[in-house]
Amino acid sequence: MNNALTIVKKTAPVMPVAQFKSLDHAKACAELFAEAGVPAVEVTLRHADAWQMVKICRDLMPNARIGVGTVLTRRQMLRAADEADFVISPGFSRELSMLANKTLTTYIPGIATATELMAAMAEEHRVFKCYPAEAIGGVALLKALSGPFPEAVFCPTGGLTEANYQEYLALPCVHCVGGSWIVPSEEALAKDRAGYLAALKSLYQRPL
Ligand code: 3PG
Repeated sequence: MNNALTIVKKTAPVMPVAQFKSLDHAKACAELFAEAGVPAVEVTLRHADAWQMVKICRDLMPNARIGVGTVLTRRQMLRAADEADFVISPGFSRELSMLANKTLTTYIPGIATATELMAAMAEEHRVFKCYPAEAIGGVALLKALSGPFPEAVFCPTGGLTEANYQEYLALPCVHCVGGSWIVPSEEALAKDRAGYLAALKSLYQRPL
């Protein structure tokens, strides 16, 4: 499961959670992300063409890790194991965890409670999507969970924005956050691509 740790560290500070509206939207964002050096993206399975969108990101972002998100079923896990670099679910299921293990898939399950963390840590997971972070207690919840679960590392997602994500990143248990707010709509991109590119480049700038 250490690959999951590598993914969240490399992805810092923000994993774009992409819910593309169309194949053209996916293409435009993937080109933007590649140019900006975005290290990883979570493409959610919430569109009829989602698997094609995953392929677009793979093709157009050759230097990035491409994740498939909203993985809820065995069938999705098996396909994602073949077509993506890592897999994310909004919640935890032992069945999916075992399947990820069997297929050697880098897997980041979601958790919302101490009970779910216990179940997931019993399957050797250490890296979690905390979802839906803002709705279930946000920074205060993560601080509280870090007491009994000092080894757990989180990528909080759900309700994070430009205005609050830094508060999450300030927690030692948070190595990156996830959010859809940094994925521009097609309309926004058409209006100010240069502005988005500059903002993304500065977000992912790494010290040499
Ligand atoms: C997810 O799937 O992780 C969330 O829907 C993303 O949440 P956000 O849209 O509030 O960033």
